[in-house]
Amino acid sequence: MTESLGVSLLGAGNVGGGVLAALAAGAERYAARVGRPLEVRRVLVRDASKRRKGVSKRVLVDSLDAVLVDSRTRIVIELMGGERPAFDYIRRCLESGRHVVTANKEVMAKHGGELLRTAAAHGVRLLYEASVGGGIPIISPLSRDLLANEVTAVTAIINGTTNYMLTAMAQRGSDYAGVLAEAQRLGYAEPDPTADVEGIDAAYKLAILCGLAFHVDVSPADVTRRGITRLTARDFRYAEELGYAIKLLASGRLIEGELVASVQPVFVPKAEPLARVDGVLNAVQVEGDLVGRVIFEGPGAGPMPTASAVLADVLDVARDLVASRPPSETIAYRPVVVRPSSKVVSRFYMRVTVLDQPGVLARIATILGKHDISIASVIQFETDARSGTAELVITTHASPGGELEAAVKEITALNVVSEVGNVLPMVGA
Ligand SMILES: NC(=O)c1ccc[n+]([C@@H]2O[C@H](COP(=O)([O-])OP(=O)(O)OC[C@H]3O[C@@H](n4cnc5c(N)ncnc54)[C@H](OP(=O)(O)O)[C@@H]3O)[C@@H](O)[C@H]2O)c1
Repeated sequence: MTESLGVSLLGAGNVGGGVLAALAAGAERYAARVGRPLEVRRVLVRDASKRRKGVSKRVLVDSLDAVLVDSRTRIVIELMGGERPAFDYIRRCLESGRHVVTANKEVMAKHGGELLRTAAAHGVRLLYEASVGGGIPIISPLSRDLLANEVTAVTAIINGTTNYMLTAMAQRGSDYAGVLAEAQRLGYAEPDPTADVEGIDAAYKLAILCGLAFHVDVSPADVTRRGITRLTARDFRYAEELGYAIKLLASGRLIEGELVASVQPVFVPKAEPLARVDGVLNAVQVEGDLVGRVIFEGPGAGPMPTASAVLADVLDVARDLVASRPPSETIAYRPVVVRPSSKVVSRFYMRVTVLDQPGVLARIATILGKHDISIASVIQFETDARSGTAELVITTHASPGGELEAAVKEITALNVVSEVGNVLPMVGA
């Protein structure tokens, strides 16, 4: 009988439970694909006395040491989540000579460089396919299949919660508070939705993607971030009339060698494939000089899709172990200058509530003109006879973000302007 290959898990929650279930159900096919059966040796949880479906009590432990003392554990799967203690635990596992597979975007975005160097120093691998896009293969394609390309842009919808909410707002004309409450009821949004709705989760994932795509050191702090909390049903109505969808886009590119990375709600032309990625689906679009444009789309979360990505990494490491293949060298990342959003050029959508009287538009146009911003279109959508106001939707030609921001400040100060609502970038020239 061939000796089994020991695998231990840190965490047995949503994803950990899925991985354990898949390991049990697919034991035979994994043994065939690896050449040796996989054996679950230890499962670290906070509360080891709690019964867990499909997990033998014998393997449950509540300290990392109990995992590390098991000499037959060769691969550790980290599925605890959060920055600490997950970061320290991953490092200790690598230092102990264990290969590590993780789904932890926060740890990889903040400490990925250091951990990958630790792995290399100890002759082991650290794999993290599940940290971005759940079940969608994207880390491996970027690190291997697209390696011959100079990647020019990565544009993604990588937060299922917000994409579900934005799709509901667009399709049903619902307001933000209503769709958030519904997403929470359905379990798509956490009781504290901040990490999703403020774009924090997507910024972690984008930092990981940009590092891989451009071979540069990127931290989540390098990502300009704006959430979806200020979007209104009216923005969606106007977007529809103009032929656009509103998506929380995670976008990274190198412009003249400088990194431009942002997570923000953006007007995306309906003809673009990303405009049609709806509900909890995720999609990552990569543009490379050789390949052109490729899009990876699929379920961005959920226990089984995420288990698919986690186990792909586990099988990859396991096959190397069976074949006694040493880990390949990781590519060193170089430092990069981050271009501030004020210098990034884009078209913009702007919603302005003004007093419904003659000459108002001319005053706004004068301010925009002073900042060299040329207007592409102006539409007066609604007038409110009671308050004597009208809503103008202005779209601009490509202009630097800093100039637009300065103009918006001046427009807001005009006594004929009641409110400058959302100002959002628009995809397209
Ligand atoms: N959920 C998804 O669809 C999804 C998709 C992609 C990636 N991910 C990533 O996968 C990871 C796991 O997510 P999840 O949804 O499975 O989380 P979860 O349901 O909250 O499970 C966390 C597990 O880790 C254990 N744990 C947490 N802190 C611990 C500590 N200090 N010591 C020991 N055990 C600890 C918990 O133990 P107890 O059971 O005793 O509390 C629980 O079993 C996260 O990094 C997440 O971002 C999740």
